[in-house]
Amino acid sequence: MLSPREAVRTLPSYHPPLAGRDGLRLDFNENTAGCSPRVLGRLRRLPADDLARYPEREPVERQVAEFLGVAPDELLLTNGVDEAIHLLCQTYLEPGAEALIVVPTYSMYRIYMMAAGAQVISVPAAENFRFPAEEIRRQLTPRTRLIAIANPNNPTGTLVPADELVELARRAPSAAVLADEAYFEFCGQTILPRLRDSSNLFVARTFSKAYGLAALRVGALVGDPKQMRSLRRMSSPYNVNAVALACLPEALDDQAYIRQYVSEVLESRARLEGALQNAGVHFWPSQANFVLIRAGATSEDAAAFVEQMRRRGILVRDRSSDHGCEGCVRITLGLREHTDLLLPALEEVLSNRQMVQGARP
Ligand SMILES: Cc1ncc(COP(=O)(O)O)c(C=O)c1O
Repeated sequence: MLSPREAVRTLPSYHPPLAGRDGLRLDFNENTAGCSPRVLGRLRRLPADDLARYPEREPVERQVAEFLGVAPDELLLTNGVDEAIHLLCQTYLEPGAEALIVVPTYSMYRIYMMAAGAQVISVPAAENFRFPAEEIRRQLTPRTRLIAIANPNNPTGTLVPADELVELARRAPSAAVLADEAYFEFCGQTILPRLRDSSNLFVARTFSKAYGLAALRVGALVGDPKQMRSLRRMSSPYNVNAVALACLPEALDDQAYIRQYVSEVLESRARLEGALQNAGVHFWPSQANFVLIRAGATSEDAAAFVEQMRRRGILVRDRSSDHGCEGCVRITLGLREHTDLLLPALEEVLSNRQMVQGARP
């Protein structure tokens, strides 16, 4: 009888809550305003011929490489960072290999690692979600073949200094070390200039977040040219679709749009963090376009908070089931006008919550 591989049979399924997302989208760390209007202009002018022919990735790949200050043979455009993670797992993980993550973190690392048949080593973050550098070193073995670090991390918003990641790559020479910089634009720190220090280091970037192009599915993976040749062999030549390829140069060209958006997000983040501080709500200071807050003590508290916000037209994300995040909710930040809607709703929900908690015996 036909049966999937064992790694697939035992794979947990990941169902992000995409259904019925009516309201202000502060639940998926997307751009709350949408993409640059220049991208929409390009979309409207897309000729039928562009859709009829198979997409050619390389010319756009050269433009993205130039923008990032790397050589074209150091970069692969991917179907979002998700595909970059998948390709790294497929390229470096044999069944039984060890793959290391620091939890809590982005869910897809574990899924693709498990799908490759690897043993996932989950190292818990240190106190206050700090990077557990010492513990990671202790967990390294000759079988460690992949280490994936989101930097800044999702859902905590914490940032590891670039030096620590370079040092980790040096200590684990037979492991691919991924610095997933999906939220780079909101923190400005990148390991990209240090990439050539270690041939096992990789950087991933996405156009899903600051650029507002999550639906187009496009990201970039950068690494040593020799390693990138193997990754290129693993990927489909048509992994990035023609619409995404047509739009990307316009998105890159409109850096004024990105600068303006990022500056509003940073202002919004400061406003939210200030409001949380005033309300006495515990949160973790963030370097990304979201903030993780302790909405209550239990997962029921977090679910009730999310529901109360949803009733006020605001979607936020329950992170209670993530390691060490019981009672936690993640709130994405966006435009000033969106924060103007967020803060009064938050205040109302928090004051109702205090009344309920105050009424508890
Ligand atoms: C850390 C991290 N990496 C990657 C992704 C996915 O990026 P993409 O849309 O490019 O696949 C996300 C999305 O939430 C993320 O938080």
